[in-house]
Amino acid sequence: MSALSVKHLLGIKDINANDIDMIFKTADTFKEVINRPIKKIPSLRDITIANLFFENSTRTKLSFELAEKRLSADVINFAASSSSVSKGETLIDTVNNILAMKVDMVVMRHPYAGAAQFLSKHVNATIVNAGDGAHEHPTQALLDAFSIREKLGDLKGCKVTIVGDILHSRVALSNIFCLQKLGAEVMVCGPTTLIPKYINELGVKVETNLKKALEWCDVANMLRIQLERQDIKFFPSLREYVMLYGLNKEILNSLSKEIIVMHPGPINRGIEITSDVADSKQSVILQQVENGVAVRMAVLYLLAGAIK
Ligand code: CP
Repeated sequence: MSALSVKHLLGIKDINANDIDMIFKTADTFKEVINRPIKKIPSLRDITIANLFFENSTRTKLSFELAEKRLSADVINFAASSSSVSKGETLIDTVNNILAMKVDMVVMRHPYAGAAQFLSKHVNATIVNAGDGAHEHPTQALLDAFSIREKLGDLKGCKVTIVGDILHSRVALSNIFCLQKLGAEVMVCGPTTLIPKYINELGVKVETNLKKALEWCDVANMLRIQLERQDIKFFPSLREYVMLYGLNKEILNSLSKEIIVMHPGPINRGIEITSDVADSKQSVILQQVENGVAVRMAVLYLLAGAIK
């Protein structure tokens, strides 16, 4: 049995506050482990994990691979660009061929929303969603919330503003679900063209003025403009976007309190965030990356309970 209420981690929507609490408490232990001189533990010995990346990634791919290796799992990596997918093989055939090599868990990033859920219904392995299109990126939301908890303690009553391209962001959706399940309040801020029409149904506040949105919050999570998912223009020019929604030192210093600045990466310096803000003491961007390994170790370890 998995220690969590789910067999797969497909999205934050499917898990509950107890699951998140268990992941965080397990990640606390793993964070201590990975800061020891000897970082490797045998918890996932004899478990084989395939990392299938059908879309580019730096942080998530390396973070999962490191988490798996720290837990002593056997790891195989697959990148769509160098695979037989380009020869016309379907997703299910590709994955079943990999599973025939006796793989227990699949960590998958895919450009299509719902790909991880689809796979979970058609193959016999535990699936972890490492980002599916503009849908969910559950481990990113977990590491973001874990990083806020580390800074502020309890998330209950904490105010988080997510700024930027909400419409195309799986990070935004997973963060909204995760933060709300932990009792935080969420606001989204960006041009109206980049805020989805269904946003009000999610129970979040909406603000188009960046200064007001930042005055409201304890934490600002700055998102990248996802140009790769945009087939039309959503704002007149990047220059205008930067003027209205870019976070710079001048705005940050004008606020009545010191807020925490987050970014899931990859950052575009000078667009959604200036270098002096990204590298400032208010920024926890690299702590997010460090916490990502511990949080992913916790997710893999807890889900593996159903396999062993
Ligand atoms: N945050 C994130 O998902 O980054 P990558 O695309 O580099 O994995």
